[in-house]
Amino acid sequence: MNKIIYLDAAATAQKPECVINAEADFLRNSCANAGRGICARAAAVDDMVAAVRRRVAEFINADSNQIVFTSGATDGLNRIVNILTRQPGYSEMSSFAVSDLDHHSARLPWQELLCVGRIRKMFKCELDKNLDINPDSVPKTDFLVITAMSNVLGRAQDVRAIIAAARAKNPNVVTIVDASQYVVHEKIDVKDWGCDFLVFSGHKIGADTGVGILYIRDSKKLFPDKFGGGMVMRVGGMESAPKGSGGALFHENNPDLNLILNESPEMWEAGTLPLTQIAGLLPAIDYLEKHRPMSDLIKYAYDELVKNPKIKILTTRDAAILSFVVDDMHPLDVGALIGANDICVRAGNMCASWIHARMGIPGSIRISIGSWNTMEDISKTIDVIKKIVK
Ligand code: ALA
Repeated sequence: MNKIIYLDAAATAQKPECVINAEADFLRNSCANAGRGICARAAAVDDMVAAVRRRVAEFINADSNQIVFTSGATDGLNRIVNILTRQPGYSEMSSFAVSDLDHHSARLPWQELLCVGRIRKMFKCELDKNLDINPDSVPKTDFLVITAMSNVLGRAQDVRAIIAAARAKNPNVVTIVDASQYVVHEKIDVKDWGCDFLVFSGHKIGADTGVGILYIRDSKKLFPDKFGGGMVMRVGGMESAPKGSGGALFHENNPDLNLILNESPEMWEAGTLPLTQIAGLLPAIDYLEKHRPMSDLIKYAYDELVKNPKIKILTTRDAAILSFVVDDMHPLDVGALIGANDICVRAGNMCASWIHARMGIPGSIRISIGSWNTMEDISKTIDVIKKIVK
């Protein structure tokens, strides 16, 4: 990869050759649409999509029909809110709970509901001294958003215990896990966790941008949020639908409407899927499972940077990423100076304003690694940081 040292894996991963080859092969030799064609090439695309879905299901210990392709984690997190709030039983008197670890995409869709009066109350789960979610602090709530690993602090949360604590207070709580960072570093087991929804993006695990995963535990009683080709089995007689009949009639597959929904996952996948990106997802997962980022690199960076009294490290030594601030320097200035040496790190609030506010800082500088990084990358970066922070 040129002369650049790329230490911004948490923003997006570099792509292994196997992903690039799978996508190029699909585009050159196999391109057709899925779920629509009857020729052999179209059938092969259906088989490819089914195989990737099975691999994703195995990857997070789900069943294939629980895996929905989206355009990314942000899409999934917004769709979950749209899905949940359009169900016939949804009440505007509901409450939701979040934590200060959240990325903007996990909390803002809920906060917007609060602003427009479509949900009653927001609770916050408390963080302990390591800034981990304290399961004992999880409130009684209707919807719970859990960031499985903060993109600033890089620590795996005890998702299973958090969900168990929430269910003990409300057996009907709907639990939503943002696994965008967690998925890169740790094995996900949705059955063990017992979550209702989970999302992650393909691009952070070495697949392409434009594809993500939405896990939905039980679609049976849910009404879709998007309409179009591929999600209905039969349509007819819509013109006779009584005005204002709304979702309930669709939901019940009312025979007068003569509309039969497909089952999950098809009912969630209106329109053409990002097929090229899906083709790259399977090799990306295979590659990631064999080449998880080496945590030793972060520990080494920690041990070196901690020696500098002007640097305040925000993360623990065993975290998956390293975030820091520098005395009397704005994080964006530090990031730009590091960048001027052909080293890519991320600086700023990382779309995670709440954890920065909680730490009393406007932003931070983040080192995050992928399988392409070496000890030499870290050594060179440390030397550059030492020159910047004398
Ligand atoms: N959420 C991504 C990051 O942390 C983009 O950089």
